[in-house]
Amino acid sequence: MGNIVVIGAQWGDEGKGKIVDILTEQVDFIVRFQGGNNAGHTLVVNGKKFIFHLIPSGILHAKRVCFIGNGVVLDPEVLCKEIDTLAKENIIIDQNRLKISKKTHVIMPYHRLLDRCREQHKSGQDKIGTTGRGIGPCYEDKMARVGIRAGDFQDLNFLKQKIEKALIEKNILFQHLYKQKPLRADEILEQIKPYVQRLLPYLTDISEELENARKQNKTVLFEGAQGTHLDIDHGTYPFVTSSNTVASSAPTGTGTSCRELTRIIAIVKAYTTRVGSGPFPTEEQGEIGEYLQTNGAEFGATTGRKRRCGWLDTVILRDSVRLNGPTEIALTKLDVLSGLKEIKICTAYKYKGKTIYYPPQEENSLTQVTPIYQTLPGWEKDISKIKQFSQLPSATQNYIKAIEQILGIPVKIISVGPDRTQTIFRD
Ligand code: GDP
Ligand code: IMO
Ligand code: MG
Repeated sequence: MGNIVVIGAQWGDEGKGKIVDILTEQVDFIVRFQGGNNAGHTLVVNGKKFIFHLIPSGILHAKRVCFIGNGVVLDPEVLCKEIDTLAKENIIIDQNRLKISKKTHVIMPYHRLLDRCREQHKSGQDKIGTTGRGIGPCYEDKMARVGIRAGDFQDLNFLKQKIEKALIEKNILFQHLYKQKPLRADEILEQIKPYVQRLLPYLTDISEELENARKQNKTVLFEGAQGTHLDIDHGTYPFVTSSNTVASSAPTGTGTSCRELTRIIAIVKAYTTRVGSGPFPTEEQGEIGEYLQTNGAEFGATTGRKRRCGWLDTVILRDSVRLNGPTEIALTKLDVLSGLKEIKICTAYKYKGKTIYYPPQEENSLTQVTPIYQTLPGWEKDISKIKQFSQLPSATQNYIKAIEQILGIPVKIISVGPDRTQTIFRD
């Protein structure tokens, strides 16, 4: 079957966790390649809910091995807590089940502090609405070449020296701009030491692991976090996250070659949501938005914030298709649309008097577009227990076919509820 890449096609929270969990049956290894614990991936197994922020969503399947790739930013405290939470459920995550790249950048306490200070310091409309987890500041240090990497855990003296260097500029900001106490390297080291020592056995060379997997004809699932329109280059900049979320960052974020990618699955929620600030052309602030928010239980899995909701936007999805090159689509949360008389799909935008089919490229231009909608009939029936495409109401089938036609990509997986079992496979 080959290797699989799973990415979000919208602004995150498309239901990637659920789909990764299901697809894990078909692979041997699951690897995260970007983002950090800004992600919140929810799985429901036998009625029990699990939310993963750092550990790949394949971990619930015994005998599968999970990797955290170099492209991830890793908060050691959060990872240890996630391991402890799973231990309470008798799921033991030792170094045979989870391996971390020595090149993975580490989120330090000063990254979290900087993230929060910055957001607080910004005025209303400039606030990004970050998750406050230190994601941006950690990636900044990586690019500025003053980042701490997991491999540095092996030498505490070296680690302390690196923290000292990283704090030089930050302490000026903390003291003079954000009116905080300056931070001390020895105190930071003491704070993170217990987690550093616990994680040491998990460190390895993920590039080598993936090479071995290839030689043994084993298959790998690359688990994306966030969504295409939160991508640092291709998303709605500056209202984006700080990593590349598109499928092509899977090889760079893990240390493998582009030739390793066979199936690329774009996860598309049957409507659109966004958490945090930024433009959202099809947002519905009235009754429809409420309906989707309530029916879809649209609360952030990481921060608990209410998600903004609106109709499906195939303009941004068309962009996602060219950015990711999906071989198939997994359409999720279709059940949430049940009960609506009419369902709208945004097929194009009006922008500066013209009809356009791809998002304009200029910063903030997405705030100036007017969506053009196609209206389809809705369906009343509860579809959450349906197991076959042919049993779906004809209006539901037509909605799926309309999406396939507009995007030119087959919808091969349809999710009609949060549970593993509430999934329809085509073919
Ligand atoms: P992710 O970040 O892409 O993994 O998505 P989240 O876990 O943040 O958000 C998706 C939410 O929708 C979770 O609460 C899931 O349990 C839930 N979910 C996933 N698929 C479906 C579905 O088909 N129907 C419904 N009703 N809920 C779903
Ligand atoms: P999953 O993997 C939805 C959003 C934040 C904010 C912006 C920047 O669960 O789909 P950051 O903390 O990354 O600097 O915040 O990105 N964001 C997400 N939105 N799902 C996510 O992850 C997200 N991760 C970050 O809300 O608007
Ligand atoms: Mg999420």
